Amino acid sequence: MIQMRKLIIAIDGPSGAGKGTISRAVAARMHYRHIDTGAMYRGVAWKALREGIDLSDESAVAVLAARARFDIGEDYVRIDGHDVSAAIRTAEIDAAAAAVARQPTVRAVLIERQRAMGAGGGVVMEGRDIGTVVFPAADVKIFLDASPEERARRRANDPAHAAGRGPSAIQEVAAALEQRDLSDRTRAASPLVAADDAAVIDTTALSIDRAVERVMELIHGRLRSANC
Ligand code: DC
Repeated sequence: MIQMRKLIIAIDGPSGAGKGTISRAVAARMHYRHIDTGAMYRGVAWKALREGIDLSDESAVAVLAARARFDIGEDYVRIDGHDVSAAIRTAEIDAAAAAVARQPTVRAVLIERQRAMGAGGGVVMEGRDIGTVVFPAADVKIFLDASPEERARRRANDPAHAAGRGPSAIQEVAAALEQRDLSDRTRAASPLVAADDAAVIDTTALSIDRAVERVMELIHGRLRSANC
């Protein structure tokens, strides 16, 4: 079998666009590592709250981000050995992670760590700034998007995010999502924006399978054109 070069695949986009599910499926198909960088921002926020660090104390949060031991697996996230898989998917951490993600010093620390994790290739890295800042020379750049209504509906129905929220929570989720989107898109430090050379895929009316197929077509196209 021909040994193919191991690519860096960047998947960015707002919450509820399908990044997690699609990135995981693409990584499994490619036999690549899936890295959820949002879990790192969430983990830093979780650890800061746990240690009583003021979230607005940027340098203290950055020190914590540099020291935290992340272990991000397919179905778990551990910080310093604690399984925080469920604890980082609460409404409180949604807001705290968005606050931490606005801080340039914290971002600089996590971006360096993400570069180190992906440098060898063979990764599907998902986030907000992977194709623009973390790996601007990524082999394949995808920007997933969907309508705000559809993203809120998905988030409200996501069991990982539903803890403590009633069945009529769509409006509440939509309001929180809108708030967080605004924070992600308007922050000075690597705001959420599609890279100029990213393929934008609108998943509003796409099945997961179809979206995964679309990404796989782009990856195969890249492999063919690079002849790697
Ligand atoms: O993808 P997520 O919802 O788990 O991300 C959590 C927060 O971290 C969210 O506010 C966006 C932010 N984030 C970021 O700024 N850059 C990334 N590469 C990943 C996430």
